[in-house]
Amino acid sequence: MFKNIFSTVFILLLYAVPVYAQSEKEVIVNHRMMMNDTINDKRISLNLPPHMKVHQLENMRSHVEAVQAIIGLIAEQNFIKASEVAHTKLGLTAEMKRMCSMFNNEGFRTLGFQFHKSADELAETLKTKDMKKSLQALQNTMGYCVQCHATFRQ
Ligand code: HEC
Repeated sequence: MFKNIFSTVFILLLYAVPVYAQSEKEVIVNHRMMMNDTINDKRISLNLPPHMKVHQLENMRSHVEAVQAIIGLIAEQNFIKASEVAHTKLGLTAEMKRMCSMFNNEGFRTLGFQFHKSADELAETLKTKDMKKSLQALQNTMGYCVQCHATFRQ
């Protein structure tokens, strides 16, 4: 009876030790990968303080939402509403101007302003109700999303 319990515990330990060792190793490997990610990330850091980080990401998520709304409205041929969304959500509004100006990096600010201006141009193009030109203008605006993300990180 005792012999059985001991051998069961022993066998369980035989399994448990490598499993524990494995997870320990994985933690180390994951940590190394994270370190390497930071090292290999060649994008320029904006060194944002924590409150600005949260705010910027919120703002960014609203940008994706706006793009999704614009695409849907173009598909419905509701160009006027799409133009409104482009102006108010992505354009160079007073609020966007104020927010962009808060960043210390000049290259980032310039790109931000160019992006918002391109969204105002998109809004104007949408008013022409020309599907092809509208999509080209949207692609142009999204080029700034891509360019900025490739260059900067928080
Ligand atoms: C002028 C620079 C700039 C422009 C233009 C820009 N972004 Fe960003 N965006 C950033 C930065 C910086 C981050 C943070 C990236 C990081 O730290 O890895 C970010 C993050 C994001 C995120 C992640 C949000 C989260 O909650 O994690 C989304 C989504 C995003 N951007 C969408 C967009 C879209 C869509 C556009 C264009 C319509 C856009 N951005 C234009 C700079 C920009």
